[in-house]
Amino acid sequence: MKLLIATAMSASIALGTVPATTAATTAAPVAPTVATTAQVGPGFAFGTAWYPEQWPEARWDVDLALMKAAGFNTVRIAEFAWSRMEPAEGQFDFAWLDRAIAAATKAGMVVVLGTPTAAPPAWMSQRYPDILRVDEEGRRAEHGGRRHFSFASARYRGFATRIATEMARRYGRDPRVIGWQIDNEVGPPSFDNEAKVRWAAFLQRRYGTIAVLNDRWSTQYWSQHYDTFDQVPLRQTGQQNPGLLLDFKHFQTDTWVDYVQAQAGAIRAVADKRQFVTTNTMFWNAGFDHFAMHRDLDLAAWDNYIPDGRPDWVANGANHDLVRGYKQRNFWLMETQPARVDWVPLNRSLDAGQTRELAWQAIGHGADAVLYWAWRSALNGQEQYHGALLGPDGQPFPIYDEVRRLGADLSAAAPALTGTAPVAKVAMIYSYDSRWAIDLQRHSRDFDPIKQFVAWYRPLRIASQGVHVLPVDADLAVYPLVVAPALNVLTRPEADRLTAYVRGGGHLVLGPRSGMKDDANALWPQRQPGPLAGLLGATVDQYYALDAAVPINGTYGDATATIWAETLKPTAPDVAVIARYGPSNGWLDGRPAAVTRRVGKGRITYVGAWLDPAAMTRLADGLLRQAAVAPILPGVGPDVEVAERRGAGRRLLVVINHGVVPATLPLPVGARAIAGDLAGTTLPAHGIAVVALDQAGATKR
Ligand code: GLA
Ligand code: GLA
Repeated sequence: MKLLIATAMSASIALGTVPATTAATTAAPVAPTVATTAQVGPGFAFGTAWYPEQWPEARWDVDLALMKAAGFNTVRIAEFAWSRMEPAEGQFDFAWLDRAIAAATKAGMVVVLGTPTAAPPAWMSQRYPDILRVDEEGRRAEHGGRRHFSFASARYRGFATRIATEMARRYGRDPRVIGWQIDNEVGPPSFDNEAKVRWAAFLQRRYGTIAVLNDRWSTQYWSQHYDTFDQVPLRQTGQQNPGLLLDFKHFQTDTWVDYVQAQAGAIRAVADKRQFVTTNTMFWNAGFDHFAMHRDLDLAAWDNYIPDGRPDWVANGANHDLVRGYKQRNFWLMETQPARVDWVPLNRSLDAGQTRELAWQAIGHGADAVLYWAWRSALNGQEQYHGALLGPDGQPFPIYDEVRRLGADLSAAAPALTGTAPVAKVAMIYSYDSRWAIDLQRHSRDFDPIKQFVAWYRPLRIASQGVHVLPVDADLAVYPLVVAPALNVLTRPEADRLTAYVRGGGHLVLGPRSGMKDDANALWPQRQPGPLAGLLGATVDQYYALDAAVPINGTYGDATATIWAETLKPTAPDVAVIARYGPSNGWLDGRPAAVTRRVGKGRITYVGAWLDPAAMTRLADGLLRQAAVAPILPGVGPDVEVAERRGAGRRLLVVINHGVVPATLPLPVGARAIAGDLAGTTLPAHGIAVVALDQAGATKR
């Protein structure tokens, strides 16, 4: 689908899927990648959340002029303004919003409208307390914060879809409105009676009969046997069956997807197809399966915050790659901080230059929009100390100039960025079920699945300069290397797909704890990696939580294991042991820590230990060499990030110096800087460069 409109300001907006472009290049095939989400005005959405309802109308034009001067072309509005849009039950007032949209348009902005359902009005909380969220201890939320509604409340759904419908009736065919954000960072579940009824119905849909549930959850254990679905407690924590606890996550996913889709459906029933429908999410948020959430949304959008103000750029890159993976398509950065947040114990500001630098990082990883939160310090309300572009006096804070500089970069680079999307030859598999299953029973408190994911991502990203994060059921064939760091939950159909990938010539690398459980969180009745044990030709004999480092030696040199170690046992004659444990607890001593097996043109490798960072780097380098994956721009320093966006016949590098000293860029012949700070071949501290590669002179990947 490709949809185009022209706004009153003749900004053109394209939304939707543009087929992967085959850039004229001699480079080896890279993963197909789909550009692009939206092009606004200069080809890129750049702007801010704006809360006109918080300020006198006489001020609006001043704000909008300052936005325009910063280079903004987009505002997101209305996402908390329910009490203003529906001041009394069933009475709607959009006149102020009409005027705000008109003012924004006059200043050259296009508009993203938020449905206000994260912040229901006080009349609703008072008249219908049954809509209020109940926490796991049975306490009902009160008015005054946000997200105080129950995700299961049918009455709340009714109110939410009604306001969404009213908004869509008014603005769904309005060319000034380019898209919709549903709610705002949905997430916390509710444990009210309606949720309990919905839970029983969910389990019935999932299992059909109670006998199947009893079987899948092994409820003969501790006399848990259930006669009916409504006997099953609604719990997300505590001494409960792991099957129940994992299914609670599935229930949360199901309910939140349904909640968001109820509003999406209400909007789409009325609105033009050119308007996108999304919701804004929080990176590793464990509240629901984000792949499932995005299946029926038009684009992924997320809110990137660096709460401690000390960015770990590689880890933050993984956040973006995860979000790109939701739809395997470019995404929107719906919110990001002007310098600082206000919701952690110590809200350190980013250093000068880093706000701009992080915007470019998002773009390198596939963002087609960067919007700030917030525009101006609200005089009161819970977020008075948050980073903003303007102070309470309405004058720019120091960060404003940095953002304006970004606006200048973007107007230079946007035409080239249009129609491009990030490329990668390495894929990493992220599985919500696996993450939840491990978090529910870490066994070693330090086995944080996100830290473990990033421990693999870090050396792979640094060495390859491009990693896509994908769900386990994605099409993997184009990636010569696929790494699943801890694929704890693995179903038979998923194992079959992975087997086909290996037989097709790919290299699948599994990390510890892989292939242990099915999707009811039950142990596979065969040893790890369960349904992949035959393909691997080896099994995990035993796993050990570690409280001290264990020596390892092998093909990739000497290493140590911490946190987790598994002993492997080859069952097929053609399995090669690539690492063994040294002396430690007697059980591990001399036993295989990692094995690999060639399968046709492909390969499967299992690494049973959490390795130290230096060993991970050597391992990643070896795996990439074996897969013939070279860096896009070799020879850059350790603080320099390189990302490539490709499409529409163009190859662009986004290069960022995250460091505090200048870096030298070994650019290939024919490379041409089109935006940023490059002086000769020197990139200053916190400097960025957008570089167009000459197709002929482009480095061969
Ligand atoms: C206690 C209980 C057992 C079992 C063990 C596990 O001893 O009586 O049922 O839970 O702990 O260590
Ligand atoms: C989230 C919310 C915003 C705001 C910011 C502050 O991203 O979506 O409304 O509260 O946090 O960091």
